[in-house]
Amino acid sequence: MTDIPAIYQGKLNTLDQIKISPLSRAYTFSDSIYEVIPYFLGKPLCFQQHIDRMVESAKLSGLDVDFQLVSVEMKELAKTLVGQDGYIYFQISRGVDLIRSHLYQNDLEVERFGYAMPFSFASTPISAMLCEDNRWANCNIKSTSLLGNVLLMNQAKAKGCQEIVMHRNGYMTEAGASNVFYFDQAGVIRTSALNENILPGITRDILIKALKNTPYDITEGSCSIEDFDYSPCIWISSSTKGILPLTNLIGTKYKFQENHEGYKDVLEAFNAAMQSHLEASE
Ligand code: PDD
Repeated sequence: MTDIPAIYQGKLNTLDQIKISPLSRAYTFSDSIYEVIPYFLGKPLCFQQHIDRMVESAKLSGLDVDFQLVSVEMKELAKTLVGQDGYIYFQISRGVDLIRSHLYQNDLEVERFGYAMPFSFASTPISAMLCEDNRWANCNIKSTSLLGNVLLMNQAKAKGCQEIVMHRNGYMTEAGASNVFYFDQAGVIRTSALNENILPGITRDILIKALKNTPYDITEGSCSIEDFDYSPCIWISSSTKGILPLTNLIGTKYKFQENHEGYKDVLEAFNAAMQSHLEASE
């Protein structure tokens, strides 16, 4: 991990050489936002959508950021991924305090930090655990304040799972680091509607658009966790996982139907959409 290209405040370096103050508000308060942009053979998937979402996260967090500069820095990092699969992680914090204080100075210089990580995207189905969503009420912000996700995901890990599916009052929200879709008993694909309780996933959006006006048109709305007991296929979506089915969902009677015909069609449509996004990508 010593030669991972990284950038801090515009200076390129390797990840292990970057030094950050312990008074960075990212360190003391997780007062920071981030993005993860996937690259396939050196080409970004939906670069502008990631920037647009980061602009929105910054706005909702009261961060004043030069996104022209952020894009340039991301593209600089991306040059190191030529011809490779990987992702760019980019984080923006409110800045470095003189002394720790919840109340920030208005003249702090925002901190920009990112790195480019070569990565092979896996496609093996994973297992998950159903749990109550006890996170804060602004999960639409892509904040690095992920303690809720971290604690729940590690409880699930202790039970042999790699993910969680969360719910509030019996209605699904999202997964720990992904969005969630499923076929209901009637064969309709459902996913949670966008609101403050879920992240507006870029992969989620690619899939919804790919299936528009097909027999698999996705219904966005309230998703009762009781549906899971009768679902033949539940899957997650994220920038680092693409779409991946769940083999089981602890806490439900979900029985994964391997080789589900509908899911095969969904995967095919998703892969085709991804391909056309990449062809249009610079
Ligand atoms: N996670 N919901 C949560 C809570 C997430 O953390 C993510 C992504 C998603 C999916 O969003 P997208 O399709 O834009 O990647 C949904 C990233 C990959 C991460 O934290 O590493």
